[in-house]
Amino acid sequence: MERKNSPNHNRYSTLDLKWKDEYNTGIAEIDYQHQYFLSSIKRITTVMMEKNEHAYCQRLFMELVYYAKFHFYSEENIMMHINYARLKEHQELHRDLIDLLTNRINSIDDNMDEYHKFVQFLLKWFVHHSMEEDKKIASSKEVTVVKPL
Ligand SMILES: [Fe+2]
Repeated sequence: MERKNSPNHNRYSTLDLKWKDEYNTGIAEIDYQHQYFLSSIKRITTVMMEKNEHAYCQRLFMELVYYAKFHFYSEENIMMHINYARLKEHQELHRDLIDLLTNRINSIDDNMDEYHKFVQFLLKWFVHHSMEEDKKIASSKEVTVVKPL
């Protein structure tokens, strides 16, 4: 197990992985899934701090990619349900991230620095996408016709 003053511990402890109110879009289903997504990133960093096991980290990243696919599909269904005008553009952002994640995961070898950069990238993408793009879904005029699923 990594000690608290190890380089890996310091590296990951600087990442802010706590859920914040400002991440909420106002659509409960999306917010619930976003919380799970963030907690998955947190779990990966914990494993990276404690184990440094390449094969296991890669499996956890793959789990995250599968979850992202599920979440995007689910979010797109909500957009379809409300006839969201910007569905196609939003779908493209989702598709781009999945392509990027898949390519990146396959090219990471056992270099833990690469994993670290990957986690930083994911966190940045998550914060930007949920606060900028997903909030537009919640603030669109169509959302008022949403009935509980
Ligand atoms: Fe989205």
